Amino acid sequence: MPVMANTNTISLSPSMALRSPFALAPMAGLTDVPFRTLAWELGAGYMVSEMVTVKAELWETGKSRLRRVLVPGVNPNAVQIAGHDALVMAESAKRLVGEGVEVIDINFGCPAKKVCRKAAGSALLADLDNISRIVESVAGAVDVPVTIKTRTGLTVDDEAGVLAALAAEEAGARMVVMHGRSRACRFKGAATYEKIQLAQQRLTIPLLVNGDIDSLASAQRARQISGADGVMIGRGAIGQPWIFAELAGKPLPNRRQQLQIMLRHLKLMHEFYGPEQGMRIARKHIEAYLGRMNASHLCREFMPLDSAQAQVLWLRRQSSGPLACVSPEAVAEIAHIQMNSAA
Ligand SMILES: Cc1cc2nc3c(=O)[nH]c(=O)nc-3n(C[C@H](O)[C@H](O)[C@H](O)COP(=O)(O)O)c2cc1C
Repeated sequence: MPVMANTNTISLSPSMALRSPFALAPMAGLTDVPFRTLAWELGAGYMVSEMVTVKAELWETGKSRLRRVLVPGVNPNAVQIAGHDALVMAESAKRLVGEGVEVIDINFGCPAKKVCRKAAGSALLADLDNISRIVESVAGAVDVPVTIKTRTGLTVDDEAGVLAALAAEEAGARMVVMHGRSRACRFKGAATYEKIQLAQQRLTIPLLVNGDIDSLASAQRARQISGADGVMIGRGAIGQPWIFAELAGKPLPNRRQQLQIMLRHLKLMHEFYGPEQGMRIARKHIEAYLGRMNASHLCREFMPLDSAQAQVLWLRRQSSGPLACVSPEAVAEIAHIQMNSAA
């Protein structure tokens, strides 16, 4: 089986090395604690939390609290912050480190209006001085490594992302992740890796290439063109978290094992969010798995299931035979459980 070369170890500090150069990208609404737990079990070498707000007034909302939860057994636990005010960001970084966070990642890549309205995320690529101020202020406030995640530039023609990476290194960042699209591209068009190569040639800290990697072949290509030290995978891990096993040269799970992994993921979601919320959040993930398995038609059966227990039962039935519509008797049985659990 072809293995992706592990090459040099990526170190964020003299005492902190990443387990492997295959990282899971932060994705708000997707890479929560259950998903990161699973990705780590399957071999991901590094993971960053979903973006966390630095606004003190939102700190204690349910969403912010859940996003800050550390993933048991993961090393290092990295949390991503987004904002535009260097002092406020330093304060929240301190607070996060006080809660046990081991790496602070700063988002200079998000193009979402909600984030950019406040001149945060990728909007900061237009203000390199503020990028320097933020990284310097955060790195000066905490004694854990500070990393950044950015895009190639504001538009396809400029190199603002490369300049931002260099400014961040100068200000104390210990690693850069670069998504091979500009801010203007948002998610349109294919990611390109040439600008990332430019950054790689000029940085002395580690660099991860990100964008459109969803297989061993695409990971090899991205790394070859960019020369990056490692890869970060976002959407390519949704519905197939075993991609991390593939990159590490481990045997790919067969269909039955994939269904067992889905079952594990389902249970992790039910446990972390509780059965009600967990059941709702599970739907988008199971839809993604079934889509990858060319079995989207089964969503018609899964989506209406209205209890955590019924979801588990349905998936268990799938794991004990070929992926197929469940028999009418079994659907009736599942519906019966649903009614009982609602009573
Ligand atoms: C639904 C979604 C949510 C995302 N949330 C974040 C985020 O919170 N922080 C961040 O830095 N990037 C975020 N991203 C960007 C991804 O981390 C990644 O850079 C991008 O999806 C390109 O990589 P991919 O092609 O491997 O998905 C998000 C992307 C998606 C699709």
